[in-house]
Amino acid sequence: MTRMPTVYHISDLHFGRERPPLVRALIEEINACAPELVAISGDLTQSARRREFAATRDFLAELAPPVLVVPGNHDVPDWDLIRRLLRPWKRYGRYITEDLYPSYSSRTLAVLGLNSARRWSPHTDWSRGRLSAHQMVEVERFFAGAEPSATRVVVVHHPFIVHELALGRGVIGRKEMALECFGHSRVDLMLSGHLHIHHSETMAARSGERTLVAAQAGTTLSDRLKAGYANSFNVIELDQDRIRIRVRRWSEAGGFQDCEQLDYRRAIAGWEPEVA
Ligand SMILES: [Fe+2]
Ligand SMILES: [Fe+2]
Repeated sequence: MTRMPTVYHISDLHFGRERPPLVRALIEEINACAPELVAISGDLTQSARRREFAATRDFLAELAPPVLVVPGNHDVPDWDLIRRLLRPWKRYGRYITEDLYPSYSSRTLAVLGLNSARRWSPHTDWSRGRLSAHQMVEVERFFAGAEPSATRVVVVHHPFIVHELALGRGVIGRKEMALECFGHSRVDLMLSGHLHIHHSETMAARSGERTLVAAQAGTTLSDRLKAGYANSFNVIELDQDRIRIRVRRWSEAGGFQDCEQLDYRRAIAGWEPEVA
């Protein structure tokens, strides 16, 4: 049987608050399963400290497959306003990557990462994120050059879904603009984090009918757990017609184990949940 292309979607590692047994278990699983790509949807560190970025860098160096990573709001220093405003991405650039439009392209996958964390916000809550019109130009340019056979994926820290436990908090700014653009660029799947809640659903731009799949990963490695949610990540198996999301959840007795599976099938107007 041919193996479907697989993406490991991990998120909200929060090095500085990481749980060491989970770090080791995750590295071993990823290297044993050898997915085509590991996508990391931000909040690599707890407080953008040097030692936390160094620990993240060491973790990434142990992963054998290609890795695509975007920053989260915790990767901007919040303990030094001057540094935050003038050099928000300096440490991220030094330890992780200077590329704030990371991409991965193959015959089966076209993946683009976008930075939704911001150095400042007009809101009192600076953990909020947003996308910009300039970033949408890059989205259109990247996917215009993608292989026709590739499944199209965007990775971004802040969520597109509104979750009841988060009370709408954290939803990405300029969401409708982004969904409109993703619809035009025939994006299939969006991978996000931030809420520390695993969840997935289909959604569409307000003016469009084409639906895409929005997948949230929980916090994969940190002790910053949302009540009722354990550490988790998503294993995503996909081809042109199917997307399967397997949620792997940590249990103290058994390590990371499958806890949920969601299947989506491509239809004329985009993606639909597959009813068993
Ligand atoms: Fe987080
Ligand atoms: Fe976050």
